[in-house]
Amino acid sequence: MKRMEQLYEGKAKIIYATEDPDQVIQYFKDDASAFNGIKKGTIVDKGVINNHISTTIFKFLEGQGVPTHFVEHLNDREMLVKNLDIILVEVVLRNVVAGSLAKRMGLPEGQKLKKPILEFYYKSDELGDPMINEYHIIEFDLATAEEIQCLRNYGFKVNTLMMEFFKERKIRLVDFKLEFGRHKGEILLGDEISPDGCRLWHWDTNEKMDKDRFRFNLGKVEEKYEEVYHLICGKS
Ligand code: TMP
Repeated sequence: MKRMEQLYEGKAKIIYATEDPDQVIQYFKDDASAFNGIKKGTIVDKGVINNHISTTIFKFLEGQGVPTHFVEHLNDREMLVKNLDIILVEVVLRNVVAGSLAKRMGLPEGQKLKKPILEFYYKSDELGDPMINEYHIIEFDLATAEEIQCLRNYGFKVNTLMMEFFKERKIRLVDFKLEFGRHKGEILLGDEISPDGCRLWHWDTNEKMDKDRFRFNLGKVEEKYEEVYHLICGKS
């Protein structure tokens, strides 16, 4: 599929048009940002790793009945995906206390949740992705009640599937963010699934293997992304 004009550039990816209006190319960059763009940097080969990890996970989820935007892994940094009308609601699933939940509840990281928690955030860089609930989503026409139910169902389903998937690969799925979009009357899982948008801790040691290493200057950022890549994609 031929790459045409650039449609959009985000913090970690660029979207290009193709000859087919129903499909676009997602280009994965090495750029990393945190704290709503305040911290910026580069994680060498992150784009290549995230493209491969996302491909593996999208294929796995599709096989388990979760519709995604994934069409084809084109090359190291490019993925062909269905063109989505992005829903401006980020869906976060949590299995262990960490990040903003730890802060909000005044708890130390690491406490296992009795049941997964699902949260919604308004996808707005300008506002720093504030937390919202279904009343906000309906009131401000971000999605319909039926769509919210769909996001919730897919969110919990993806969590159950991914927890097992990661556990088999010695990784604890602490929390993660999903994005969805509309395509020809269907809701599809979009964006990427990678250590950029997930908290992944080593099953045995609880060592952090995700973007928190970049956020908090923990070092060995590239090394840990690569380790996740090996554990998930099973190759060097
Ligand atoms: P948080 O603890 O900062 O709220 O993040 C929860 C998880 O969701 C964590 O794995 C990071 C991911 N996330 C993003 O990748 N982007 C976002 O905009 C948000 C709100 C969360």
